[in-house]
Amino acid sequence: MSEHDSTRLIRAATSRPTEGRRPVSPPVERASTLLNPSVGVMRDESLGPVYGIDGLAPQRALAQLVADLERAERVTLTSSGLSAVTLPILALARAGDEVLTTDAVYGPSRRFLTRFMAERGVTTRLHPAEATAAEIAAMIGERTRIVLIESPASLTFEMIDVPALATAARAKSVVTIMDNTWAAGVAFKPLVHGVDVSVQALTKYVGGHSDLLMGAVATADARLGRLIHQAAEDLGGHVSPDDAWLALRGARTLKTRLDRHAASALQVAEWLADHPKVARVLYPPLPGSVGHDLWARDYTGAAGLMGVVLNGGAEAEAEAILDRLTLFGLGYSWGGFESLATHETGQLGFRQAPPRLEGPLIRLHIGLENADDLIADLEGAFAGVVP
Ligand SMILES: Cc1ncc(COP(=O)(O)O)c(C=O)c1O
Repeated sequence: MSEHDSTRLIRAATSRPTEGRRPVSPPVERASTLLNPSVGVMRDESLGPVYGIDGLAPQRALAQLVADLERAERVTLTSSGLSAVTLPILALARAGDEVLTTDAVYGPSRRFLTRFMAERGVTTRLHPAEATAAEIAAMIGERTRIVLIESPASLTFEMIDVPALATAARAKSVVTIMDNTWAAGVAFKPLVHGVDVSVQALTKYVGGHSDLLMGAVATADARLGRLIHQAAEDLGGHVSPDDAWLALRGARTLKTRLDRHAASALQVAEWLADHPKVARVLYPPLPGSVGHDLWARDYTGAAGLMGVVLNGGAEAEAEAILDRLTLFGLGYSWGGFESLATHETGQLGFRQAPPRLEGPLIRLHIGLENADDLIADLEGAFAGVVP
């Protein structure tokens, strides 16, 4: 198998037929019941799925593609990116255990930990978003069972030295789970860097077209993969064949799209960094930005998602800028082909230690439109708002 993701994504689950002809893409098989020719065949589990919930052709092809991408032994698909985060925690944490994660973790992941898991006896400790790997490792205690890593972190994009943290956690027999959605399984390979479980929202770049929700949980260790897969079975997890088929179609162009998202995002970030109304651009690939050194050391690419801190001004000005944009849609999520903008300052209030920012925080997802057009749109929106 090639080391190049562009080749892996195209070749995954497209082996040459051994006889006859078949379509390139697996058919969408919709089924709960699978009919058998005899009781003997019905009882033979080695012949593949016995019931629709086991996953049919599109789900199996997609799981194989994500395994190829993440260098994983096993992949379990889940109904959303959030459920890809929650599944391994549900599978591994027991009452009395503690989960350690960043104060800047994706909001719904934090809510799951501090509400659902807390009600079931699993506590959560939050480390400062800017903590080093050594500082995070020093917070691992007797009860710590899982370190949930998110890097770059949500909204403020702090980076963690993942290889160092994974090594330190493993030495203490603590499981690491990394939300790798920003890197889309392409720009960073958590399992190769010693992380135990890599999860991502396929909703974002793998789907790539803002028309489905799905997640994937990838493991290099077969035993760990089995535990997580069994938890999905016990919980009745399933993804629809139509959505799996769409995600598989999106994934074929993932590397090509991500390269373009990254190139345009860097161009936009550089322009924004020089704008007098912008205090800081939070985008690790941008030299001088938060986390740039770790990004340059460990990442082979980037996403199109960034934070923009305005240079002072009221939240109403951020809203006025967003309202004046014409090429950026106003909407949540990211990773689709289209550019999006959101105003995020309010979300920071939930943190244990909200960051001190020079002004309002805007989040931009740079899509596949022409980057000069996006910059012109931003220029017009900024110009129309009095500082
Ligand atoms: C970092 C991160 N992880 C997970 C998710 C959850 O994905 P989904 O919307 O598919 O539940 C998101 C969604 O925004 C996200 O930003």
